[in-house]
Amino acid sequence: MLAAPLAIVALAYGSALVTGLTLQKRAVDFFDPAQGGGSMFDNATFGGEPLNVIISGQSDPEVLTDDGIANFAKAIGFSKECLGFHLGAPQTANLGDGNGSVNQTIEFRQDFGNDVLGTCLESLVGGNHFRVFRQNGPQANSGALFLAASKEEPASQNHDIIPDGYNIGRDELVASAVGTKSHGGITYNVVAKNITGLMPAGSEGVNHGIAVDGIVTLLTVTIQK
Ligand SMILES: *[C@@H]1O[C@H](CO)[C@@H](O)[C@H](O)[C@H]1NC(C)=O
Ligand SMILES: *[C@@H]1O[C@H](CO)[C@@H](O)[C@H](O)[C@H]1NC(C)=O
Ligand SMILES: *[C@@H]1O[C@H](CO)[C@@H](O)[C@H](O)[C@H]1NC(C)=O
Ligand SMILES: *[C@@H]1O[C@H](CO)[C@@H](O)[C@H](O)[C@H]1NC(C)=O
Repeated sequence: MLAAPLAIVALAYGSALVTGLTLQKRAVDFFDPAQGGGSMFDNATFGGEPLNVIISGQSDPEVLTDDGIANFAKAIGFSKECLGFHLGAPQTANLGDGNGSVNQTIEFRQDFGNDVLGTCLESLVGGNHFRVFRQNGPQANSGALFLAASKEEPASQNHDIIPDGYNIGRDELVASAVGTKSHGGITYNVVAKNITGLMPAGSEGVNHGIAVDGIVTLLTVTIQK
């Protein structure tokens, strides 16, 4: 039943890619970073931020590319940072995939319905944002995207995280993503599932000592054909 449509999907991606590489759907959602000496917390200035949302490696492979995640982010109300300006220090994470500690790939901010200037507004008034890390090293190549989501104070407050800002940032991002969303001619079907036991709850080692509830939400993003 499933094999034929998947083959067609793979062909469609192959022909759409200028590089000629065929993107294939991955076999796993993600690998637990701890198994490879990594962590579900990144490295920020005052501790680590929780990687509290994972976009499954079993999502459509197109979604997991840099361009794909940028379009998906727009579909759920986020854009790249204000006019390309970067307003917070980049963070690093070790996803246990054999790549060691790597810089975040991209950072997105809530765009308040305007994907050109809205992120500038987020930078001024505060709001939700997320950083993206890709698990694609040789030891755990799931292709999954690990997101550090948090809700921030306005720039005047030095972009600090609001109280309970990690849990709230995750829940708001997930709430804006689940269901059917569209942007740039692509329609996404998004399913969420909570995972416990992957990340410890509490404030130990967490950036600014803001406690987390230990829940990681797994999003599986399928492109509607
Ligand atoms: C970075 O994260 C790792 C894993 O959580 C931790 O062992 C290390 O102390 C952190 N380093 C800094 C500078 O926060
Ligand atoms: C990571 O980011 C820092 C700060 O922007 C930069 O100095 C460093 O070269 C980056 N490392 C890699 C491997 O790109
Ligand atoms: C991880 O390593 C692979 C090579 O094994 C490389 O292609 C990939 O770009 C690296 N990922 C990151 C996020 O640096
Ligand atoms: C995941 O957990 C959060 C926090 O408890 C909750 O608000 C949300 O509804 C849960 N989502 C799912 C899909 O279970």
